[in-house]
Amino acid sequence: MFSRLRLLPHLTLNSRVTLTSSRTFARAMSQKTLFEAIKEDHEEMYEYHDQYKRAHEKGDVDAQARWANQLRWEIARHAVGEEIVVYPLMEKHLGEKGKKLADHDRAEHQTVKEELYELEGLQPGSTEFDSLLTKMMASLHHHNDDEEVEDLPLLEPAIGIQASKEAAQSFKKTKKFVPTRAHPDAPNKPPYETLVGFLAMPVDRLRDTFASFPKEEEMKGAKEELKHLVKKRDASQLKRSHSRRGRPFKKERRSKKEKRFKKEKGFKNKGGFKEREAIQEG
Ligand SMILES: [Fe+2]
Ligand SMILES: [Fe+2]
Repeated sequence: MFSRLRLLPHLTLNSRVTLTSSRTFARAMSQKTLFEAIKEDHEEMYEYHDQYKRAHEKGDVDAQARWANQLRWEIARHAVGEEIVVYPLMEKHLGEKGKKLADHDRAEHQTVKEELYELEGLQPGSTEFDSLLTKMMASLHHHNDDEEVEDLPLLEPAIGIQASKEAAQSFKKTKKFVPTRAHPDAPNKPPYETLVGFLAMPVDRLRDTFASFPKEEEMKGAKEELKHLVKKRDASQLKRSHSRRGRPFKKERRSKKEKRFKKEKGFKNKGGFKEREAIQEG
């Protein structure tokens, strides 16, 4: 209690510190936990599937193909993100139980990936395509429920809230570098450009790719440096624009000589001191 009271006057004296602290606090509070980020993704998949089903009911084959594509990419990005970020955490922090859960999840992902490969060769709008997509979504639903009900509720308390938020950021980052849809010239492009190619990439190789990007704290440092440079640039631009207008700087305006001059002559108008000095001499 005592240390809290001692801190308060310091914080209230420096409003900038208070503002920055509250912003950082607000940002930290608004960050999603890993559970929230994963659950949000699962819901996104269900939403795309609902859109697909609506298009199917209407018999709109184009819309079915579009929503099925969106859904397949979302599932692929999500699965790879979990394999890179979530399952290694379960293995690390939940001991034998974590290893078993992660193996089980990877096996279920493998089934889904095989179904995604299979869908690639089928025609949207066909009965085969629709039945396979329906079957895949049913097993995925069961898998997602396992993650929400068992895996993450075990993992989150084991790693703590801060690590959970950091993991959610890393999970988001892995998704950021994966395309959301196939490139039109897919067959001639590198693996990332096709869904099948992306899923065929070994997870170890994908993890290395994502690890070769700057870390969170490095990005923070770069952003701070950029902010500082922008501030410095703005200040020097302001200085130059003032000089161009021939307006003297504050220090110059408030020089002792000017003060004395003003006092003697009772000058109250604006304008440069040198200019007025010249008028007086003239
Ligand atoms: Fe999963
Ligand atoms: Fe998941």
